Amino acid sequence: MTNKRIIVVDKFNSHTNMTTTELCPNMIPLVDYVGQRPYDDLLVDAKEIAKQNGINGSFLDTTFRLLGKLARHDEDAAIGGLRTLPIAMEIADEISGFYGINMDPSPIFGGAILHDIGKLAVPQSLLQKSTAGLEWTASDRLAMQAHVCAGGAILRSRGFPQAMVRAVEEHHHKQAGGTEYGVDCQLANDERIYRDAIAMADFEEADINRTNTRNRGLSRQQREQEIAEDVAYVLGDYSDCSVLVERVIKRSLG
Ligand SMILES: [Fe+2]
Ligand SMILES: [Fe+2]
Repeated sequence: MTNKRIIVVDKFNSHTNMTTTELCPNMIPLVDYVGQRPYDDLLVDAKEIAKQNGINGSFLDTTFRLLGKLARHDEDAAIGGLRTLPIAMEIADEISGFYGINMDPSPIFGGAILHDIGKLAVPQSLLQKSTAGLEWTASDRLAMQAHVCAGGAILRSRGFPQAMVRAVEEHHHKQAGGTEYGVDCQLANDERIYRDAIAMADFEEADINRTNTRNRGLSRQQREQEIAEDVAYVLGDYSDCSVLVERVIKRSLG
């Protein structure tokens, strides 16, 4: 494992650059889940982040090739990966800095972008239902749950590092409300940081940018409260977690 400090390019921090397209019922503006920045623009940002972090070669090529495949299957899922990336990099940087751990930025980069790659195995009709914020049936939920194992299998078959594979396989395990995805697993410190940074970033990206049956009536402030609760939940068993939770929330939400 190479030890490099994660470099986060602030101007690419997608959730602080958002513009308003939707008004929720209480008239507090929210950002529409489709967002203002198209896939191609977000891809340019991701390439810049890769460059700044020295991520290149076949790792990068395979990451973007798989992302392109996902975009052709369901562009919204691929956009979700690109939007999750800068948030996950920020959070991983905060946690690793807090504990003085030097981390390889590659697994967090690839894992964040490809965390939903397993949606390649989910029917497009169900993904479109999800994008439209429609209610899922019990069988929809089961079909969607398969995306974590499918994602792990896809990445494992391409030879991605184990820490990245596990982060993708477990990215819903510790999210608030994600208990149906399985129990928490034993991981090494750096593996936990990869997984949990991606999990928190995914939750944050989705809660801010996507409207569904659960968060439809929530104001921006209420969504931020949910994000803060998710951070406290995910980091709840880390050492000195109360200070860390505060820092991560501050870094994410300002
Ligand atoms: Fe997911
Ligand atoms: Fe996601």
